[in-house]
Amino acid sequence: LKVDCNGAKRDIRALWFSGRKLMMIDQRCLPHRVRVEEYRDHTEVATAIRDMVVRGAPSIGAAAAYGMCLAAMNDSDLLMAAKVLKAARPTANDLFFAVDHMLTRLSDGEDPVKAANAYADTIVNRCRTIGENGAPLITEGGRVMTHCNAGALATVDIGTALAPMRVAWEQGRKFFVYVSETRPRLQGMRLTAWELQNEGIPYAIIADSASGFYMRKGVDLIIVGADRITANGDFANKIGTYEKAVIAKALDIPFYVAAPISTFDLSLPTGDEIPIENRGEEEVIVIEGHAIAPAGATAFNPAFDVTPHEYVTGFITEAGILRPDEVRKIGGSDGE
Ligand code: MRU
Repeated sequence: LKVDCNGAKRDIRALWFSGRKLMMIDQRCLPHRVRVEEYRDHTEVATAIRDMVVRGAPSIGAAAAYGMCLAAMNDSDLLMAAKVLKAARPTANDLFFAVDHMLTRLSDGEDPVKAANAYADTIVNRCRTIGENGAPLITEGGRVMTHCNAGALATVDIGTALAPMRVAWEQGRKFFVYVSETRPRLQGMRLTAWELQNEGIPYAIIADSASGFYMRKGVDLIIVGADRITANGDFANKIGTYEKAVIAKALDIPFYVAAPISTFDLSLPTGDEIPIENRGEEEVIVIEGHAIAPAGATAFNPAFDVTPHEYVTGFITEAGILRPDEVRKIGGSDGE
């Protein structure tokens, strides 16, 4: 993740461990300020996940792994800590996967810092492989569309949906990215645009409602991330993903979902069982501190939607590109 820190270009992760502290970029301050916050115990980490200091399924998982590490270092009750961390947000599978992974490692007597660092490194390595597996889908002169932020910020480093773009760019291909703004929290406009700009990859931000317009004009490929993928190949991702997938199918545009194994939840048969987070209505009706709607207005704010498997061309994973009916093959793997 290339960032401009006080005028100097640095290559850092979205979160890392230093001394006895977890350091995390406060993603709510981007793109205008790179602010790094410090966390010393698991309750602070849980609050940071809930308040979206850190967001994106794999980054949430890594933050929770470090939260478990801090709980072990502080001699806190590990089962209680696991409960507190798992309650932070309901939809991303990586959160539960990472906490369970750490519980096993810690009960095996592993060093907490080594175990959490290994978890974060594994995610980054998997993202690199996702990038290599997905890059051939991006052709010279191609027009790619993405939604929300499934970049380095969302995955410790490199990204899932953005990983094939980074690799294709490194391989010297020229292409163009449509970035949908992603109301209400604007992860596309604030975070994905910032990451692409730092890499020098050409892009334009479009209003969410302009996606269909540009798809009709000519989009060659859509790549999004995922928060949870179920056994039948349905998946949850940021609200607004579903309508892109439906339009893509209507127009015969390949629609890919990039995600590591930690995002797959084969215990759920279909997407209907995925818990969908509802967030506060102020995220919809208050913009940068300004109330836009009439006083007393009501708003609904589901953070994710579920896209049925029939709209998915393939899942780009570290194990290769899988069709939805091949998702069950993923079963039985752990975090390392
Ligand atoms: O609410 P967020 O910002 O945590 O939602 C993130 C997304 O929906 C991403 O697209 C998804 O987590 C994939 S991140 C690699």
